[in-house]
Amino acid sequence: MSEFIIELKNVSRFFGSVIALKDINMQVKLGEVHCLLGDNGAGKSTLIKTLAGVHAPSEGEYYLDGKPVVFKSPVEALDAGIATVYQDLALVPLMSVTRNFFMGRELTTGRGIFKRFDLEKANRIAQAGMAEMGINVRDPSQAIGTMSGGEKQCLAIARAIHFGAKVLILDEPTAALGVKQSANVLKVVAKAKARGLAVILITHNVHHAYPIADRFTLLNRGQSLGSFLKSEVSREDVLEMMAGGQELDELTAELEEFSRLDATA
Ligand SMILES: Nc1ncnc2c1ncn2[C@@H]1O[C@H](COP(=O)(O)OP(=O)(O)OP(=O)(O)O)[C@@H](O)[C@H]1O
Ligand SMILES: [Mg+2]
Repeated sequence: MSEFIIELKNVSRFFGSVIALKDINMQVKLGEVHCLLGDNGAGKSTLIKTLAGVHAPSEGEYYLDGKPVVFKSPVEALDAGIATVYQDLALVPLMSVTRNFFMGRELTTGRGIFKRFDLEKANRIAQAGMAEMGINVRDPSQAIGTMSGGEKQCLAIARAIHFGAKVLILDEPTAALGVKQSANVLKVVAKAKARGLAVILITHNVHHAYPIADRFTLLNRGQSLGSFLKSEVSREDVLEMMAGGQELDELTAELEEFSRLDATA
């Protein structure tokens, strides 16, 4: 087994004349939460889509557990153990918790023309998977649309873990959530890490990123400004590295200036 579950060497991705990623080097370890930081348009989503098999790298190499890989589709990446939970969650609102849990990987019973979805067993597994994430689903046949945002995130994560993901990629999982639900999702991330998975997390919230991350990689206009262990950077450093730290300082100064002008007017 390689030291890193995922390693990128000089990976670039171009869209026509747009350079979305340039010479990215990145290493991800099992049992670690790796936080991807950067301003809007920095290339974070493009990077995880490259890891997830949505985009092929235009240049550079992608190693999975030490072996070079070229995924032709997201399904290939998923089969290799790389599960991605996108912000817009690929769940079907009117379908049940169980159906969503097993979507694309239906559990069947019987043979030939007698083959059918084994709903009872699937219900039990979905319910147990959710319970392990701290979510009590009373009725697994309830439509997913009736669940809260945090619960849906947890379902997507529970599903990934159940199907044997080694790497869990989360693109802004807490962006649309309140305090309590965000905490729930972050706890699930901590659980995934404790189970030995590698988690790659994108978030704009320093209060979410800092306590849970082991390592940070900072992207800026498609380029990596480096990876840092948590012991090497303070919370303030991370805040500075996140979306527009400098701009925020300037804005604060400007607002202070306005209030001074107001006071003298
Ligand atoms: N399919 C595409 N075709 C053309 N350009 C693209 C495509 N996908 C991304 N880009 C460009 O690549 C750059 C990086 O975009 P990306 O979505 O990766 O940023 P991001 O860091 O995820 O930003 P945000 O924080 O706003 O989600 C942007 O300039 C974007 O316009
Ligand atoms: Mg994005």
